[in-house]
Amino acid sequence: MPDHGPTIGLVLGSGCSDAVDGLPAAKVDTDYGAPSSRLYRRDVNGTSVAILLRHGEDHDIPPHAINYRANIAALHASGASSIIALNTVGVITGIAACGTIALPRQLIDYTWGREHTFATGRAAGVRHLEFTDPFSATLRQALVRAALAAEVDCIDGGVYAVTQGPRLETAAEIDRLERDGADYVGMTAMPEAALAAELDIDYAVLALVVNPAAGRGSGSIHADVAINSAAARAAAMRVVEAYVEVSA
Ligand code: HPA
Repeated sequence: MPDHGPTIGLVLGSGCSDAVDGLPAAKVDTDYGAPSSRLYRRDVNGTSVAILLRHGEDHDIPPHAINYRANIAALHASGASSIIALNTVGVITGIAACGTIALPRQLIDYTWGREHTFATGRAAGVRHLEFTDPFSATLRQALVRAALAAEVDCIDGGVYAVTQGPRLETAAEIDRLERDGADYVGMTAMPEAALAAELDIDYAVLALVVNPAAGRGSGSIHADVAINSAAARAAAMRVVEAYVEVSA
């Protein structure tokens, strides 16, 4: 167990790896295998931030191949009682502008074939996790306050559809997701959110809105992502900083 104060877990998604430059890092292993990256650590006034790069140090792990169980188990073993997850998303409805950030309140899971539970039966137990509210209300509210303190626009709410990837969606698939009630589409919040909940870790997604979803924009999605990522990333990191400051 850790020999320091409270630990905040931070899972960084696409394009955010600069945030760990120069930080000390330790290789860790878990009962579920190796996590996506070394565990980076930042200490702020006695509060420790344990940071993982979801797609690996060379950004070579696609969403469907991430070892989500190892990542969450590694953060749990580091003592994290909360996890802020940065996930890039496309936006389906008019809920948020590209280049901004959002705190989704709900999700719909369309992923398949991922190792998605610690409760695999027999010795590992059987558990029907209550997942009515997939994100921690306490952590979401604290992040809303952090965004206000940092003077960063952050949409509070919306539904995140989690698709399998790695390909992007068709326009018809996006229409279907909208009919289902989704506002954002991304590939990485599940099973991450459920695994964190299984370990009683407060978990919230801070979504980086980087493109209009398929069929919702006028040009190439990759071009939209290139245009909007830096602003969304900067906004998200300002909120994380503000959150860590008040927690420390
Ligand atoms: N679809 C799925 N995942 C994404 C998208 C998208 O449009 N943008 C960023 N992650």
